[in-house]
Amino acid sequence: MTEKASLQLGETTIELDVLTGSEGEKAIITKPLRKTTGFVSLDPGFVNTGSCQSDITYIDGENGILRYRGYPIDQLAEKSNFVEVCYLLTEGKLPTKAEYDAFETSLTRHSLIHEDLKRMFQAFPLNAHPMAIISSVVSALSTFYQDEYDPMNPEQVRINTHRLLAKLPTIAAHAYKQSRGQPYIYPDNSLSYSGRFLKMMFGYPTEPYVVDEDVERVIDQLLILHADHEQNCSTTTVRIVGSARANLFASVSAGISALWGPLHGGANQRVLEMLQMIKDDGGDINKYLNMARDRNSEFRLMGFGHRVYKNYDPRAAIIRDSVDKVLTKLGVNDPLVNIARELETRALEDSYFVDRKLYPNVDFYSGIIYRALKIPTNMFTVMFALGRLPGWIAHWKENLAQGLPIGRPRQIYIGENVRDYTKLSER
Ligand code: SDX
Repeated sequence: MTEKASLQLGETTIELDVLTGSEGEKAIITKPLRKTTGFVSLDPGFVNTGSCQSDITYIDGENGILRYRGYPIDQLAEKSNFVEVCYLLTEGKLPTKAEYDAFETSLTRHSLIHEDLKRMFQAFPLNAHPMAIISSVVSALSTFYQDEYDPMNPEQVRINTHRLLAKLPTIAAHAYKQSRGQPYIYPDNSLSYSGRFLKMMFGYPTEPYVVDEDVERVIDQLLILHADHEQNCSTTTVRIVGSARANLFASVSAGISALWGPLHGGANQRVLEMLQMIKDDGGDINKYLNMARDRNSEFRLMGFGHRVYKNYDPRAAIIRDSVDKVLTKLGVNDPLVNIARELETRALEDSYFVDRKLYPNVDFYSGIIYRALKIPTNMFTVMFALGRLPGWIAHWKENLAQGLPIGRPRQIYIGENVRDYTKLSER
């Protein structure tokens, strides 16, 4: 017996089906609403609106729970690696040894980009933001596969999934090298996914590069922690672009642009800039907490608050706990760490933040680790994109597999009623 919800509209009462998810979440199916009542629902920012049914990632925002395909994020961060998590998200299950080896080999073998594509990097000014570069280059990557990116062809989707997962680190590292005026480093097939990225970022053709295993592990864990987060802004962007049957490269390029926004993935860069500003301003934390509380101020505590988490973001907790260990191992003593911890302590005792359930999110501590790894601030959101790529791909595939219609919301018009055109001479 399907659970029902009744909606009273004037003299009319309509019944709408209720859907219950596998974790007990409830949704009212409003699909028949306009046809049966002429009404549409209105929910700016989709704060209370579900766009789909998904079996990829589960978040319980009240209790700070995050699982990819049912596996808790803390277990994956501790026991898995990013390549395996890419397989889990894009294929829907943990791989067997044979599946894992074949997948890892494929990503290794597809890590090169076409030599002609490299010319594109020289077209940008040296100070170009790397998010502009990688979104452009990912879209341009599609031109090298124009006869094989049909979203409805499973084999073409599979090979392009591997190409993107394999090439985005190469593209990201090339953007960094270009900005430094340094030679590109080719991907080294003898290294792991994260080790290959580190060498392309920090290696030189003039000398050997030895991957620091601890740094390799931290990068891999950070990529895992960013790999998916259900219907966030950039993933919704990828789904809606893909719903128009745009190819995977075009859809991911759009997702990269959405992630760049300072309220979304761009926040990790803004957190470091905020901490540096507080430090340069004499460390007056109260001054910035007051600004964050002031509704007339544009200032927000970057790295704090979340649309879904009304508890500590489990990813932030894992990253926070690894900060001291990573910085100690690297011999880094960063004064911004103390400012971040003091800021967190004060905010979590402050009624403004407590009442609004504003906790540190994934972006609050991640930048401190990236900085300790000598990744420049303007590359922080690129690191987020590298992590989020398998999630974007998984959702793009799910949207098509579910045969969902093209995403096209309705609106309520509040503009002028009909009026006649007036000639210029009469205005
Ligand atoms: C990510 O969706 C995802 O899953 C995203 C993400 C992912 O993995 O994909 O988790 C990654 O984007 C994390 C969020 C990174 N962004 C930031 O850290 C930027 C700072 N945070 C805020 O801008 C804000 O918290 C959002 C954008 C993250 C969430 O905004 P919401 O859900 O629209 O909440 P809101 O703006 O309605 O805020 C509710 C109240 C408001 O105050 P009142 O109007 O009730 O008085 O809380 C206040 C807001 O002004 N508020 C903040 C605040 N965040 C919310 N006040 C000060 N500082 C903040 N950071």
